[in-house]
Amino acid sequence: MRDSPRRRLDALLSGLGYGSRREVAQLCKRGRVRIEGFLATDASMRVDPRAVLLDDAPLDFPFGLVVALHKPLGVACTRAGAEGQTIFDLLPPLWRKRHPKVASAGRLDRDTSGLLVVTDDGKLIHRLTTPSAKVEKSYQATLDASPTEEMLERLRHGVLLDGERSATVPAGAIVVGPREVQITLREGKYHQVRRMFAAVGGHVEALCRIRIGALPLGDLPRGHWRAIAEAEIIPAIG
Ligand code: URA
Repeated sequence: MRDSPRRRLDALLSGLGYGSRREVAQLCKRGRVRIEGFLATDASMRVDPRAVLLDDAPLDFPFGLVVALHKPLGVACTRAGAEGQTIFDLLPPLWRKRHPKVASAGRLDRDTSGLLVVTDDGKLIHRLTTPSAKVEKSYQATLDASPTEEMLERLRHGVLLDGERSATVPAGAIVVGPREVQITLREGKYHQVRRMFAAVGGHVEALCRIRIGALPLGDLPRGHWRAIAEAEIIPAIG
């Protein structure tokens, strides 16, 4: 949990998506906001976010939001202009109105399922996506045929992807089923896993991200999210 300094009530509620500052002043006038049991009549007062109740409920993630989401197949990670379902359809509508904005740390293709970290913490997004941080991401790839040991060795050493100038950094590649390979990357090029298998003569039929840093997808049901602590992803920064 981040620091909890006292904040102006109108700035706090408006940043959490409850309305413009003017609308927050109206919420106060209508008696919908309480602080330590007392009606909050002045929206400019400085408050401890933990003490605020709106319609008798505590505020939604008042100290910043970090969640793990199990993205199903067919769902896009983009916010604006995407056709069909997006991850924002799986999350509370209030989160679309928060500032700082809520976004996923990196993306998964529409036809890839699995673990996404969704947060309003820009520093955390940077930390999880910048190649220099080398945060590992693991995927379970189902191929159209059994992989050969030679294919896996090439992935482990690094391969040149179509259209790239430098080879991929060495990846982990473990066989976990007749056509299933668990692959671990420390970088995130466009369509990387599918392109890596294509580069060694394989074809990925299904792909699921199963881990980001230390955080496993585990048994989080498809389409569901749960609040997490940063330390679950990168223990040292928690
Ligand atoms: N690699 C892919 O090919 N697709 C993804 O969505 C993620 C990694």
